[in-house]
Amino acid sequence: MTTPSGATTAPGGAPVLDPAGAVPDAAVLTPPDVAERAAALDAADPLARYRDRFVQSPGLVAYLDGNSLGRPLRATRDRLAGFVDDVWASRLIRAWDEGWMDAPTELGDTIGRVTLGAAAGQTVVADSTTVMLYKLARAAVGARPGRDEIVADTENFPTDRFVLEGIAAERGMTIRWIEPDPALGVTVDDVAGVVSERTALVLLSHVAFKSAFVADMPAITRAVHDAGALVLWDLCHSAGAVPVELDACAVDLAVGCTYKFLNGGPGAPAFGYVARELQHQLRQPVQGWMGAADPFAMGPAYEPAAGIRQFISGTPPVVGMLPMRDMLAVLEEAGMAAVRAKSVALTEFVIEVADRKLAPLGVEVASPRDAAVRGSHVTLEHPRFQETTALLWRWGVVPDFRPPSGMRIGLSPLSTSFTEVARGLTLVAEALRDPGASPAR
Ligand SMILES: Cc1ncc(COP(=O)(O)O)c(C=O)c1O
Repeated sequence: MTTPSGATTAPGGAPVLDPAGAVPDAAVLTPPDVAERAAALDAADPLARYRDRFVQSPGLVAYLDGNSLGRPLRATRDRLAGFVDDVWASRLIRAWDEGWMDAPTELGDTIGRVTLGAAAGQTVVADSTTVMLYKLARAAVGARPGRDEIVADTENFPTDRFVLEGIAAERGMTIRWIEPDPALGVTVDDVAGVVSERTALVLLSHVAFKSAFVADMPAITRAVHDAGALVLWDLCHSAGAVPVELDACAVDLAVGCTYKFLNGGPGAPAFGYVARELQHQLRQPVQGWMGAADPFAMGPAYEPAAGIRQFISGTPPVVGMLPMRDMLAVLEEAGMAAVRAKSVALTEFVIEVADRKLAPLGVEVASPRDAAVRGSHVTLEHPRFQETTALLWRWGVVPDFRPPSGMRIGLSPLSTSFTEVARGLTLVAEALRDPGASPAR
């Protein structure tokens, strides 16, 4: 199998690649022009002080994968440590009446307010992204009877494509696949060219997981509505890094994960958004007791709760909802506009260094060069990046690898410095020069 770094593992799980030699000193190796530029950008960074709020990681040179799993905040360490004694042990089952029952909608409202441009009563925290995606997509096609097509794109994240294939098989529907330029993403013309009176639902990612292309949410949403269909946006790579305005764009449905730029921790639950005016039209397929009008009536038949609560199925993941509270507070304090500005500055810096120092080694930038349509990561391409990524992990530089040849440089605006990026990219260059990163070895 392959690990998240893309390294091939032996049956016992140990990395096959085990190059000898000391870990190179990134601080010493960083070219002076790059180091000076990074230092100047750090000195001018109004959000630089937020870096100290995160737990330090021993041996880490550069964390370049916050778009996969955000780093923990110190406040989260304290919150988790205190939870067992102060809440769980002391309040026990009484805590359900003291906040736990309301946590999915209360936290959903906070995510909506801080990152989604969504008024209260439309966002809920529950399930995994995959399960929430299924629930909302299935509810959407059920709300458009007589329409037998779903529109999606071949570059979307596997879970999105797989969930739709399951729904299409279940409902006898056809998926109309858009095949976008992999270096970019889905355009409004792509969508307008394929939607019709047969379309029930269009599912797209706002920020493409490979290229980081940012789709035109307002225009695409209008094109979908012109065809009488519903749109579902996957916001996994947007929430907490790229601001969106769901209400202003009249978006119908959205889902996203909370473990990337909302720093909710591994396996943290997803959020789902359902526009208020649609809520009474949709019937979600996983009818559990926690989404019922009165869960503790233990009644004979399912009666959905009013409003966004009906999109809950089972017991709220209380522990999993703890860490994201800290990041949401920090994001609100910093302001999403400032967070986006830092994200843009970081991705610009990656492209600048890649052009100057990595291009001579055969590396190509595979993300949009226009910052207006680029999310919070930059994908670099090189045929040897699978082996290179595995070596970099050993050296304390942590990007991730996406087949066939992409290295994603993820930039978490509040926890990443320009100097960290400079050192990380310096070791990318070193790794490409290192015979340990050669598959021929
Ligand atoms: C665009 C996108 N959708 C969905 C998911 C994951 O879904 P889940 O949270 O169920 O693992 C990811 C994970 O990285 C993703 O990037």
